[in-house]
Amino acid sequence: MTSQPAVERPISPVGERNVDIRTKVTISVDGTDVSVLEGDTILDACNSAGVDTPTICYGPTVTPVNACRVCVVEVEGSRILVPSCSRPVEEGMVVTTDSDKVTHSRKIIHPRKTVQFALKRSIR
Ligand code: FES
Repeated sequence: MTSQPAVERPISPVGERNVDIRTKVTISVDGTDVSVLEGDTILDACNSAGVDTPTICYGPTVTPVNACRVCVVEVEGSRILVPSCSRPVEEGMVVTTDSDKVTHSRKIIHPRKTVQFALKRSIR
């Protein structure tokens, strides 16, 4: 594994140098290489690659997080589908968002969870 150098961001309006010390990692999303910052999620990488990934429970004011599993993707080497909204990227990761396994999961399993999730949220 090789890491790229830290990303230096432009000087802020108040004159401070804003340096993000995280390194960049490159992963493959549906066959497209995309570089994102270490610690970003697979969902961030999908967004950077222009791949639309559905989400329900992901957002700054939404709880519980990581519960709906509608954002699952396939990661090479993983036996199970992983939630893209919470799984951090790793260098060399190979992600597939439109495999039969992912599509099956979203079509068969998630409509029920989506209804359960919506009902729970409406009760609060
Ligand atoms: S958006 Fe709900 S688990 Fe990822």
